[in-house]
Amino acid sequence: MLADTTEEKPRRPIRSYVLRQGRLSPAQRRACDDLFPRYGVPFSTEVVDWAGIFGRRAPVMLEIGFGMGETTALIADAHRDVDFVAVDVHLPGIGSLLNRIDAFHLNNVRVIRHDAVEVVETMMAPASLAAIHVFFPDPWPKKRHHKRRLLKPAFVRALAERLALRGYLHVATDWRAYAEDVLATTQAESLLANTAEGFAERPQWRPLTKFEARGQRLGHEVFDLIFTRR
Ligand SMILES: C[S@@+](CC[C@H](N)C(=O)[O-])C[C@H]1O[C@@H](n2cnc3c(N)ncnc32)[C@H](O)[C@@H]1O
Repeated sequence: MLADTTEEKPRRPIRSYVLRQGRLSPAQRRACDDLFPRYGVPFSTEVVDWAGIFGRRAPVMLEIGFGMGETTALIADAHRDVDFVAVDVHLPGIGSLLNRIDAFHLNNVRVIRHDAVEVVETMMAPASLAAIHVFFPDPWPKKRHHKRRLLKPAFVRALAERLALRGYLHVATDWRAYAEDVLATTQAESLLANTAEGFAERPQWRPLTKFEARGQRLGHEVFDLIFTRR
């Protein structure tokens, strides 16, 4: 089983996730054992040479919090000329994405199981990413939990710094208050330029995610934010 580097350490007690002992299906467990060595990248405190890992020089896109990986696999399948680094901490989701990678024969996806905040800080070179996707980050609706939200100003700055010139940051959420908060943060970030007046149109190519479908059933409006690196 792949090494667990996701536990809460005293150095940074506030994380944007709580690890739950979700049940791992036999297929997900097998994927973690058999496929992670092929498609997984262990957490590292050094910048990664992605061209070396993928065996080619192609645009690299980062997805943070892919959940079960349905969207990741569909986007990567439709964009075989782009390399995708997908980060999450949730083990059943890791197994599920690994199985999709295998079923779709996706050579352009690698999976990291670790806190994305640290992955961005240490494994991603400045000005190296063509795009960053953050689809339906945990909204942490209660005020006392707002400190756990992923997209805070310091992390948005770190993301902006990793984007190549004209690379984009795409966030989608069905939580209006979080959407407005992220919009204020991204508008205030001098390295980013909004591609729209406020929220963006939902791009046709973005597949419906599991969380989005759930939000739709609950009658939630969905907000897309697309900012480019200037
Ligand atoms: C609400 S789910 C959305 C999943 C998926 N994007 C979707 O739309 O169906 C948020 C995901 O982000 C992951 N996550 C939260 N904080 C994270 C972090 N700091 N690093 C990596 N993954 C994180 C969670 O484990 C969870 O899978």
